[in-house]
Amino acid sequence: MTNNSTASYVVETFDAELFLKEYWQQKPVVLKNFFSQFEDPIDENDLAGLAQEEDIDARVVSNVNGRWSVTQGPIKRFEKACKGCWTLLVQGVDKYVPDVAPLLYPFDFIPNWRLDDLMVSFAVRGAGVGAHIDQYDVFLIQGKGKRRWRVGAPGEYVEVFPHEKLRQIDGFQAVIDVEVEAGDVIYVPPGWPHEGQTLEDSLTYSVGYRAPDNLQLAESLAMMLDRGINNVRYTDPSRASQAFPAHVNHLDVSALKQQLIDVVNSDDFTLALLEAMSEQGIPEYPLEPEITLEQVANEFAAGISFIPATGVRPLISCGESGLPQALFVNGSQFNFQDEDREWFEVLGKGSILNATCCEEAPSFAFLETLTTLLNNGYWEWLEE
Ligand code: SIN
Ligand code: CO
Repeated sequence: MTNNSTASYVVETFDAELFLKEYWQQKPVVLKNFFSQFEDPIDENDLAGLAQEEDIDARVVSNVNGRWSVTQGPIKRFEKACKGCWTLLVQGVDKYVPDVAPLLYPFDFIPNWRLDDLMVSFAVRGAGVGAHIDQYDVFLIQGKGKRRWRVGAPGEYVEVFPHEKLRQIDGFQAVIDVEVEAGDVIYVPPGWPHEGQTLEDSLTYSVGYRAPDNLQLAESLAMMLDRGINNVRYTDPSRASQAFPAHVNHLDVSALKQQLIDVVNSDDFTLALLEAMSEQGIPEYPLEPEITLEQVANEFAAGISFIPATGVRPLISCGESGLPQALFVNGSQFNFQDEDREWFEVLGKGSILNATCCEEAPSFAFLETLTTLLNNGYWEWLEE
């Protein structure tokens, strides 16, 4: 993705291949000094500002003398919410703060569609959200301050709810017990219990992933069928006469299953899946007034540069192995032809886009897509 931030994060020794082979989805690992010369791209005041916004998912978890409470955002009265040992947690910061984007670059060996969001938390000394288990992979990047993290092995743990909005477990045996400081990273796979205790006021950046379960996949299928796409009905024109009507014929059950298998294997469902995989819940800020294709063509010819809006992570499928040739952005599909491939790849990479990016001049179809992306607020003008 485009780096418009002045901050740079140097990762010298991380071996992504080794990490995938040994740890990803298998076991946790502490990556000491993952980022050298770490500088926080945001501070607690910025976080507090975000937590006041209506559309941003934020909460404060606090513990006063052993009593837990949770205040769901938008947070209006910090002095009331932030009592005792408290943590302010803000989801989806990558969608609102361009300066956090470089934190995600070292993890780009995992495809865009698996990444969910960047959550940022600020915790005061003594605070933490308690021992808990997440369903998703997470890289916990330590910013300023110091925390002690304990991580345990997967197992049967008793869930407790010390507050209706706080899911914890009643303890675990640590297999990792480590003190982290700015630039250190801990990878925690889904299902591994963990708990952070704050030793010095701390910022923690959680790079969180997503993995759809069958219900979510079935929801994508149901949404497509609900739009009337490929919603075929069961037929049985070669039915043989049956002696006992209560008897269920295994061939009928197989035919019903096959009906569903066929729709799952259809190109329509491939598209529905790609749309769902590209869905990021990016808030839409449509351009007002709308820009015309002619204006975009003129600006492009004049050497103006464009970039994806904050947090936009496009997907691209290049027409191989039954996949369509299309760009997907936040649930929308943009088909392209072979001659435009290079231009669409620039969009897919999220790089700075201008007339010098490719040798061939852009086609009308490409400029049309760029116009739509600008009008939807998914791409914008690069401010020099
Ligand atoms: C935190 O930032 O304190 C919580 C992160 C986590 O455990 O997932
Ligand atoms: Co967690």
